[in-house]
Amino acid sequence: MDFTNFCLLSVVVKEKKQMFSGTRYASRFMSRGCGSMSKYSNKDLLTKSILKDNSTPTQANIEGNLPLWLSGELLRTGPAVFEVGKDQMRHFFDGYAMLLRFTIKEGNVTYQSRFLNSDAYTKAFKQNRIVCSEFGTVSYPDPCKNIFHRFMSKFTVEEMSDNGNVNILPIADELYASSETQNLCKLDLETLKSTEKVNLYSRNNIAVHTQTAHPHIEADGTVYNLGTAFSGRSCYKIVQFDPSNGFEGKHPSHTMQLHSTTVGTEPDTDLVLPTGTSCRAVLKSDGCVHCYSEVLLDTGIELPRINYKEYNGKPYRYAYGISKGFGELLKLDVEDRTAVSWSEEGCFTAEPVFVPKPGANDEDDGVVLSTVLDVREGKLPYLLILDGKTFKEICRAVVPAEKWCLSLHGLFVSKF
Ligand SMILES: [Fe+2]
Repeated sequence: MDFTNFCLLSVVVKEKKQMFSGTRYASRFMSRGCGSMSKYSNKDLLTKSILKDNSTPTQANIEGNLPLWLSGELLRTGPAVFEVGKDQMRHFFDGYAMLLRFTIKEGNVTYQSRFLNSDAYTKAFKQNRIVCSEFGTVSYPDPCKNIFHRFMSKFTVEEMSDNGNVNILPIADELYASSETQNLCKLDLETLKSTEKVNLYSRNNIAVHTQTAHPHIEADGTVYNLGTAFSGRSCYKIVQFDPSNGFEGKHPSHTMQLHSTTVGTEPDTDLVLPTGTSCRAVLKSDGCVHCYSEVLLDTGIELPRINYKEYNGKPYRYAYGISKGFGELLKLDVEDRTAVSWSEEGCFTAEPVFVPKPGANDEDDGVVLSTVLDVREGKLPYLLILDGKTFKEICRAVVPAEKWCLSLHGLFVSKF
């Protein structure tokens, strides 16, 4: 399998010393209009549950010319279910996960979706209430606890949710739905069912309480991620998953103490000196490190992706992302600091995934895939395919099915 174009850190921020609290980060997704009109809002997509999945693959109707070289699976996950019984999730990031699968082969597209059968989801609907606390939602009967209190008080590993609604991780030729806890849900690609729960804390060679849902993947399949372990000597851990061993065998874990300062470095000095950018990380006299960003575009851009397969770890020119609360797709030229966009009235997009054309020489020679929800009455959802160079629509695969969720992240698995 060839895992194309995995997740990327944010590339554009507008303010210096920006604080990324969960609330502020989430506010970027808040209710907005889309396209040139502001008549339509994404509010319902962010707060109302998807009622039905689509576990049997459904043929999409192709409008336009789907490139025959494009062959593989677009897999995505996102928050979809926000109510259980009388309980209501309090944050978009907390919704129970829905997995999306688009199979592209020989000019055809099929669509399939399934609610992730995590323990958190299964127990909730068995007991008709939210059982496991999520990022911004506390579960009854612990109304005094939130996720931050849990870190500061007694930490119970069993409490951590396995609601994998943020990303899909490729580890040793298997796929796992992930949030940012230590729990991963192994997926069966054909059925989209979770077949195994992996608890990273219980693995002595890994032992992290949390890990990001945004690891980096080397070309050989090695996965690097940043985790945290909370104990008397809490620390960050960089965890490495070897492509041949998965969670077994030896996993070098590199530890750093939390809240440590850099010893032996003079205050007000740059800690890193990246080339080609004015971004800086400066150690101040009070021991804090202040990060200074560089504005690339005077427009917010979220969920950025690049040609990850060919340009991971290398200088790149193009990034693709969303803007206007999922209402617009952007292609950003980081050299010229310009952008082109795609939007359509009533349509809300998702993280754009770039897939390079086989044998391409140019960085942007390929296509950009994004799922689109058209909230106008009677309109169907579709998979949008844009030309990577022109950012113009090549085709759309319209799905005669119920609307899916606003997904956060995913990946394209090429099959040539
Ligand atoms: Fe993310």
